[in-house]
Amino acid sequence: MEKSYITTAIPYVNGNPHLGHAMDYLLADVLRRYMMLQGKTVRLQAGTDEHGSKIFKKAAEQGIPIQDYVDQNSKSFQDFIHSLDVEYTDFVRTTDADHMRRCQAIWEKLSNHIYKDKYEGWYCEGCEGFVTDKEYDENEGICPDHKKPYTKLSEENYYLRIADFKDQIREAIEKDEMKITPAFRKKEFLNLLKDMPDVSISRPKEQVEWGIPVPGDDSQVMYVWIDALSNYITILGYPEQDISGSWPANTQIVGKDILRFHAGIWPAMLMGLGLPLPKNLLAHGFITVNGEKMSKSIGNVIAPGEILEKHGLIPFRYYFLRHASTTDDADFTWDKYEASYNELANDLGNLVQRLATLCKKNEVAGVKGELKDNADFDARMSKYEFNFAFDVLWDEIQNLNKRIDEEKPWALAKTEPDKAKEVLKSLIQDLSNTNLRLAIFLPETAAKIAEIFEAEHIAPPETPLFPKA
Ligand code: MSP
Repeated sequence: MEKSYITTAIPYVNGNPHLGHAMDYLLADVLRRYMMLQGKTVRLQAGTDEHGSKIFKKAAEQGIPIQDYVDQNSKSFQDFIHSLDVEYTDFVRTTDADHMRRCQAIWEKLSNHIYKDKYEGWYCEGCEGFVTDKEYDENEGICPDHKKPYTKLSEENYYLRIADFKDQIREAIEKDEMKITPAFRKKEFLNLLKDMPDVSISRPKEQVEWGIPVPGDDSQVMYVWIDALSNYITILGYPEQDISGSWPANTQIVGKDILRFHAGIWPAMLMGLGLPLPKNLLAHGFITVNGEKMSKSIGNVIAPGEILEKHGLIPFRYYFLRHASTTDDADFTWDKYEASYNELANDLGNLVQRLATLCKKNEVAGVKGELKDNADFDARMSKYEFNFAFDVLWDEIQNLNKRIDEEKPWALAKTEPDKAKEVLKSLIQDLSNTNLRLAIFLPETAAKIAEIFEAEHIAPPETPLFPKA
């Protein structure tokens, strides 16, 4: 059976999960639940990127054997994903023996497009990345992210000849065969593609010992992108299994900083392998704190756990899915978070409490939600404007609050009890209908709402859904 395949970026395991990672998972989860509501079968991949010298050094610093270190950290990412109520169907670790073996097979299949060359130039150890002379000059020799001087490097590397595929990649992007959302990032990337150099895909073993050996050359290990990008297909069993039931992916979700790898190197690899390109690449923005980039040196990093502890998961999902744009940068502040929590409590929490109380008093029996067409919602979802799709639902919720205020079922109950019942019935039917889509964003709350309003004897929850702090 055909499956809609959604992928998420696989984080490096040299640190704890942070808010940026949460964004990848929440967006993937929203898309998955939306597709499932449409009756589709969905496959959702997640995983961890576990090779490279940064990870190796971190483990050494902490005096933990490298394998134990990556095991622990990979586990903490798996726990983190579960704590967000996100369910993946496949979890890939780049240190898995299957992944490593398949990755080597992929390298061999790409060998016509791979060549060895000498690299001489600048390098940032923090980024584990090569730096062009232009970047070196622009940054005056110091990495803006790591605040450390670039180092000089001279070594042999293997390169992937991106040039072999540039024209085809450009065409696929321009024609939206591989559609990049948002459109401004598509434009940005097409500009970048013009001057995109061939990419280094290996490092000498003495520099990076923690990596997948290059087939046929003991002196080199694979480096970063071939190993990492392959995960999306090795987890499906490529190359020995037929992956056409899941590949091409419907949507690959990445942060804006790694879009260029997914829009440039990845399609080159796929073309070299004779595989189709993903249908969509969705690039989300960055989460900032008080308007600033989160960074250890500024000391403004907020761990997701801190926010989750405050009011639990649902207000977290509410904030990052409704008040953070799907595609632009989004800011977090505690003040905005509290305001968002109050909104959730006032608009939705109160609605449920009020309606359930009125239904109980007037003995109105429960109903089941019906999935009615919702063109506004679908239009937003299909453009990956998840936060605006959420707004569509929130308008419906606010509209229900307005209707209660205007139709005053508590007053009607005294004069026209049948009319009061009718009004309440219509209100809970509409709420239950909206609730089916609300489940995409706030699954746990939606389950509670369904339980309350589907019951034969409706009763308000003993504690409100979102108690006042
Ligand atoms: N290992 C690579 C990805 C390989 S995918 C084949 C990597 N890892 S990462 O840990 O640095 O980033 C993982 C994801 O988190 C990426 O999608 C990245 O864009 C995202 N974010 C990292 N910091 C972020 C924010 N501050 N805000 C939002 N997302 C950010 O890159």
